Amino acid sequence: MSSIETGGRFSRKTCPFPTPVDRAAVENIVKPFILDDAVYKRVCDVMLDNFNKGLGKETNAEARVKMFPTYVRSVPDGTEEGDFLALDLGGTNFRVLLISLKGQEVNMESKIFLIPQHIMLGTGIQLFDHIADCIYKFMKEQKIEKKTLPLGFTFSFPCKQLGLAKAKLTTWTKGFKCEGVEGNDIVQLLHEAIKRKGDMEVECLAVINDTVGALMSCAHSDRQCAIGLILGTGTNACYIEKLENVGLWDSDYNDPKEVIINTEWGAMGDDGGLDFLITEYDKHVDKHSINGGKQIYEKMISGMYMGEIVRLVLEKLRRNGLLFGGVGSEELSKRGRFYTKYVSEIESDVDESDFKSTKQVFEELELTNYTDEDCRIALYVCSLVSTRAAYLASAGIATLLNKMGRKDVSVAVDGSLYRFHPHFHDLMVEKIEKLVTPGIRFKLMLSHDGSGKGAALVAAVANRLRDEEAKKEKDCKPNED
Ligand code: BGC
Repeated sequence: MSSIETGGRFSRKTCPFPTPVDRAAVENIVKPFILDDAVYKRVCDVMLDNFNKGLGKETNAEARVKMFPTYVRSVPDGTEEGDFLALDLGGTNFRVLLISLKGQEVNMESKIFLIPQHIMLGTGIQLFDHIADCIYKFMKEQKIEKKTLPLGFTFSFPCKQLGLAKAKLTTWTKGFKCEGVEGNDIVQLLHEAIKRKGDMEVECLAVINDTVGALMSCAHSDRQCAIGLILGTGTNACYIEKLENVGLWDSDYNDPKEVIINTEWGAMGDDGGLDFLITEYDKHVDKHSINGGKQIYEKMISGMYMGEIVRLVLEKLRRNGLLFGGVGSEELSKRGRFYTKYVSEIESDVDESDFKSTKQVFEELELTNYTDEDCRIALYVCSLVSTRAAYLASAGIATLLNKMGRKDVSVAVDGSLYRFHPHFHDLMVEKIEKLVTPGIRFKLMLSHDGSGKGAALVAAVANRLRDEEAKKEKDCKPNED
């Protein structure tokens, strides 16, 4: 087969289809995504090594996977009550929520606000002023602006926690890069912005990661839940660890002798530890990202990058005359234009004979020169890239399950990739079963709105503890009468 198009501008004119497609040539281009179990076992080994390094007092400084202790020591017991505000920042949207807890009953009102790109890449002051504006608007709408409500903040970026309500951002991830925030306490930045705004009384009692929110939210009704996993714009996991294994721990050893660890596993591979499986497409994605060299494992898995990986493979196939008769489109040539939701849509085409969703995606990308064979190849590429992502995430979860050694564990999972991809759940169950120590049983459970409910639950516990402390102090004071 001859190479039809070798880059440069595209012609939208139709040209003859290369038939039959050279299957061996297609296989050759996609084969770096097909990995056997030995490779995934090696990923588990690298992961465990990273976890142990992160947890060790002496090794943490140089570790890439930071294993941050969260100061969340106990999961909710279902007795939490009251009205709470929650904030959720970390994906493409920002949400403000009003949550009423009454035992197992949870009522929520929420509003989504967009964070414009110029704010995502602007200054920290602009970002937090925008957040304070959104909180104010929401409170006015809910007619609660005169109330003083405790607030839980789900802030889904790597933070070194210095307490439940003190968290320093170590580095931005995903699409954010606001100046003047890294190294600073985000609760302080939030409180300062609320003060600048004026006219409202809000006190942030807890900052949590979205993985912790997912775990807390599931643990509210399932006592076996001990891992929280996010597969969305980014990826990360947290789990319950025994204090004796946390060399970093610098607080008390009271019961429960456990703490939730936010692994920040997305950073695995930043030291070259995953180079044995990195493809040219992964390198390209990393090179053109706003955080080059960082979050290598995340970039192979999560929704912010998966569509782009697929696009790069499709473009390579096209350039080699193996797709669309070598004729692409302006749209397909644009970085970031092939959204991860397209991967889920294309893979939903069960009835291969009509390829309805795939053709719709092609139309959206202004591709006109396609055949059923092209649909079949695009579906194949999507499935290889998403399967690798699901298997890599499975290696992470299997490592955690093996490390924890509990017999029965529920894993709380949230995030758009997991929710909307038609096969992610099944692929993960299949691969975790292969990688986990025999005898360990696990369940992957969809966590409902962990970022909102989880933050409210942690704030509720913090609020109760604070009230108890205040009461204790009052009872201890000598009677002044
Ligand atoms: C962040 C994590 C977060 C994950 C999922 C990553 O980019 O570093 O803190 O949990 O995305 O939202």
